[in-house]
Amino acid sequence: MDKSAFPDPFEQTRLEKGYGEMNDQDDPVTMLLRLKDVRKSAHNWKTFQSGATPGRIVVPSEVNIRETRQIPFEVDPPMHGNYRALVEPWFKRPLEPDYEEKLTEQINAIIDEALTQDSVEVVSEFSLPLQSRALTLLLNIPYSEAETWVSWGTHVFRSEDDPLDGSKAAILYDYIDEQITQAIENPGEDLYSVLLASEIEGRKMTREEVKGVMILTFAGGRDTVINAVTNSIAYFAEHPESLKKLQDEPEIIGKATEELIRYFAPLTQMGRVVTEDTQVCEYAVKADSRVSLCWASAN
Ligand code: HEM
Repeated sequence: MDKSAFPDPFEQTRLEKGYGEMNDQDDPVTMLLRLKDVRKSAHNWKTFQSGATPGRIVVPSEVNIRETRQIPFEVDPPMHGNYRALVEPWFKRPLEPDYEEKLTEQINAIIDEALTQDSVEVVSEFSLPLQSRALTLLLNIPYSEAETWVSWGTHVFRSEDDPLDGSKAAILYDYIDEQITQAIENPGEDLYSVLLASEIEGRKMTREEVKGVMILTFAGGRDTVINAVTNSIAYFAEHPESLKKLQDEPEIIGKATEELIRYFAPLTQMGRVVTEDTQVCEYAVKADSRVSLCWASAN
């Protein structure tokens, strides 16, 4: 089978039951496998909440390695909307022509670098540095900082033999704490400084809230991008005709990117905590238990 072909491990369960069950550190998860249920539950934030104990909606749960709430991701409406409005203008900067030009330059440089070598290990030598370098643009901080992040490896919370490595997570938290302290002492035009100067509900963002946004930016934007880029390269390596089609019809690149992300589902699932006894797929789930929304159900 092609390396870029993903067999669906839940095909039969999806058809027969619609939900799967997994244990995760003694806090079991009911996995919603059908698109209809995923969409319905994602909209019903009152019954399927994000604003639970920090780390609990993530699978595997991060409650043992994190106390800081990730913002806006682990917050429910209406507060979610307030945080979202605050960060959105900054996260939309990549749409500006000047930003796009700088990002294109960075990507061209890494492609040129790769082309000078006989072979490239795509994850560590291409996708990881690409993601880290691009993050310097998003945070508006010096390019050289990317070297530190590359040294952390592909996942900020995982190491070779530990899927949830607390000591590794501490490296990220200490790093962010230090960057926030520097931005307090010496404010600039970087994301840390912008957040520290921002107001939410008529008051300044707290240090803990700023930390919550930054942890999410580092953690959420890392392995997702690395997975998406790596899988896309694997796909085009095995389907040169698709690459040719994109070269001939550049206007379909946007749609093709959406399709690649749908197919590879770089973030496989995300949890919610159930606030009241309810049913999913005619299956009872109890208040304070966990469900997960399997994004790959869109396949
Ligand atoms: C292909 C790459 C990516 C994928 C597949 C992806 C996937 C997702 C998904 C599925 C959610 C929703 C989670 C939920 O409903 O519980 C989410 C939320 C979020 N992601 Fe990403 N993500 C990607 C890249 C990034 C990047 C690069 C950043 C920033 C550096 C980022 C920042 C966020 C933030 C801030 C949220 C929370 C949004 C909110 O609560 O309103 N993501 N992402």
